[in-house]
Amino acid sequence: MRLTELQKELNSEQLKAVETIDGALLIIAGAGSGKTRVITYRIAWMLEQGIPQSQILALTFTNKAAKEMAGRIKEQTGKKLQNLTVSTFHAFGVRILRSDIVNLGWRENFSIYDETDKTQLIKETGRELGFTADALDAYKIGNLFSNIKTGRYTWQSANDMYRPLYEEYQKGLKLYNAVDFDDLIVLPIKLFSEYPEVLERYRRRYKYIMVDEFQDTSFQQYNLMRMLADKNVAVVGDDDQSIYSWRGANYEN
Ligand SMILES: Nc1ncnc2c1ncn2[C@@H]1O[C@H](COP(=O)(O)OP(=O)(O)OP(=O)(O)O)[C@@H](O)[C@H]1O
Ligand SMILES: [Mg+2]
Repeated sequence: MRLTELQKELNSEQLKAVETIDGALLIIAGAGSGKTRVITYRIAWMLEQGIPQSQILALTFTNKAAKEMAGRIKEQTGKKLQNLTVSTFHAFGVRILRSDIVNLGWRENFSIYDETDKTQLIKETGRELGFTADALDAYKIGNLFSNIKTGRYTWQSANDMYRPLYEEYQKGLKLYNAVDFDDLIVLPIKLFSEYPEVLERYRRRYKYIMVDEFQDTSFQQYNLMRMLADKNVAVVGDDDQSIYSWRGANYEN
């Protein structure tokens, strides 16, 4: 990818964003205006400049978007991209945990509980603690636990009765060597806070971080990114299209 090629494929604003590799970059533009294109060309350009694949981390929100992005970069560079990390936040969390979760007391072959497994564990644990069927709306409790775990809610008199259940649920996960979906973001943050030398290893590796659809980052995802990012971080977003606001995404990040 040469400069003349870039100039053909990008408008002047896009080109400027692509060529700005060092330092922090916030790109805000409307729907369909070519934001994702900026990220893929920026990565292609970085590789062209000799930046090793292993130093680049591109994060997005759906597996489909991550796949598409990786595909576009491959097309543009014509290179095998074995060491490039283009991933969802959750898949990146899995990768971190598979390699370093032993520090937190799980084994590295942990399982990832889906909603069904989670509901099952809540019910099982609830029954053991003597909750009546009426008080055991596992779906509602699952949401509460998710909100507690990610810090959106705190324990209050209205939900405090579920606190012992939450603590047993957490113990149950660990006992079964399992993590739930929220743990995929929350546990890496815990790992990095408690083991700065582990964090340091990731910070040294990922020198260039990019996030697409930044308007959809939750506070926890933002925290994780903040911990990892040194100075070369570029985020791309559209402040008009936060589809995940109901899940705790915060465009003010
Ligand atoms: N400078 C350009 N010249 C021609 N086509 C472009 C240019 N920039 C982007 N496009 C095309 O416009 C379409 C939208 O681009 P892209 O997906 O990058 O936008 P986006 O801002 O990320 O969209 P969304 O808001 O849906 O995430 C794509 O088909 C892309 O190839
Ligand atoms: Mg896009």
